[in-house]
Amino acid sequence: MKVTVFGSGYVGLVTGACLSEVGNKVMCVDVDPAKIDLLNSGGVPIYEPGLTEMVQRNREAGRLLFTTDPKTGVDFGEIQFIAVGTPPDEDGSADLQYVLAVAESIAEHMTGFKVVVDKSTVPVGTGDKVAERIRQTLAKRGADIGFDVVSNPEFLKEGAAIGDFMKPDRIVVGTENPRSIDAMRQLYAPFNRNHERLLFMDVRSAELTKYAANAMLATKISFMNELSNLAEILGADIEQVRIGIGSDPRIGFQFIYPGCGYGGSCFPKDVQALEKTALGVGYQPELLHAVESVNHRQKELLFQKISAFFDGDLAGKTIALWGLAFKPNTDDMRAASSRTLMEALWEAGARVRAFDPVAHEEARRIYGDRPDLEIVGHADDALDGADVLAVVTEWIEFRSPDFADIRERLNYPAIFDGRNIYDPRAVNNAGLVHYSIGRKPSHPT
Ligand SMILES: NC(=O)c1ccc[n+]([C@@H]2O[C@H](COP(=O)([O-])OP(=O)(O)OC[C@H]3O[C@@H](n4cnc5c(N)ncnc54)[C@H](O)[C@@H]3O)[C@@H](O)[C@H]2O)c1
Repeated sequence: MKVTVFGSGYVGLVTGACLSEVGNKVMCVDVDPAKIDLLNSGGVPIYEPGLTEMVQRNREAGRLLFTTDPKTGVDFGEIQFIAVGTPPDEDGSADLQYVLAVAESIAEHMTGFKVVVDKSTVPVGTGDKVAERIRQTLAKRGADIGFDVVSNPEFLKEGAAIGDFMKPDRIVVGTENPRSIDAMRQLYAPFNRNHERLLFMDVRSAELTKYAANAMLATKISFMNELSNLAEILGADIEQVRIGIGSDPRIGFQFIYPGCGYGGSCFPKDVQALEKTALGVGYQPELLHAVESVNHRQKELLFQKISAFFDGDLAGKTIALWGLAFKPNTDDMRAASSRTLMEALWEAGARVRAFDPVAHEEARRIYGDRPDLEIVGHADDALDGADVLAVVTEWIEFRSPDFADIRERLNYPAIFDGRNIYDPRAVNNAGLVHYSIGRKPSHPT
């Protein structure tokens, strides 16, 4: 099939690459000329395991094309994906300007029937807005051309995006139009061979399904974080509690890790946007509001623990920071917990010496050159001359460090483990105090 994908970010580029991988011809359109130039010269603007090889393979085979020209994109595909950003507006609701700009471009240039598929995460009712924008633009042109707007929310996880797209748990498709149902069935057939994964429903239910999934996952995390704070006060160990509840198959082990809060481009903005949607229709979403406010508090926790360690006097201190990305295997730092911590440390007069396996360039792009941030090329280099160590992202390479070496390099014997990745005994055996989430600090004996 011939497919166009508007937006070449984490979702659009993965979608384009994976659809071309199974033999479709895909044209990716982006408004960012630097991104398109890089893609056309064989580069990939984001870090996502396996993506560079897949993009290169399909680009060289002539199945994956890139352009900044919307007309070229609209002419190309019978199916037109919208995979542009839906960042939070000033009030927290989803900003639809990019989605609607693409709808307008499609309507300006289309000459025949198009299936317009919304893959961006958008509030319930956006399908109607996209259809209305296309209708209005066509009317201005005096053009009478058919189209259908389909909702096809994306559930991929950054860091495992290729696997998630190629072997999805489910493919949610919101449309009741038989022509679109056929087109989407055909498009997704290669990803649907093992068993039926396609779930057809109405557009509004598909739109809400995406928010419901993210809000449920965020709720699990915030619930566990709420419990972890309580455990710490009560003298219980949240890690033992986690195993105690996770072994109940009704609860399960996934997404109940206590930590220093969730970040990323999805959970924070989607929970907020869903709350705004609810308020907009006169419904008070008590639980959603609590999920976000617990997370805000949780993201400040590491700073509070470090500040308490230094009796509130952080001026002139240097904090070694392991992990900048909002989670492992990505360079994405949108709403990352590392940012909350660094910004609070700077505010208090401390310096940060940070290491991340892939997000260093993203950190430089966000913060530029500043005297209180040093980004180093190796985890050990972050420790030399630093006062204490804070671990914010659970990268696999941080899991089993040489604690004795850490003890040697730090000025004070303390690790602030924001993801509970260390066994307190192993940390204590090296003479270090282990500060973690949801249990009292553990001291060397
Ligand atoms: N990142 C994720 O893990 C993830 C997962 C599921 C769903 N989503 C949703 O998918 C959507 C995209 O997210 P993302 O992380 O890929 O965003 P992103 O910011 O990485 O990429 C968006 C891209 O769209 C481009 N763009 C903006 N306006 C455009 C236009 N008019 N025409 C063409 N391109 C345009 C931007 O230049 C950018 O490259 C969001 O709604 C997000 O909530 C994201």
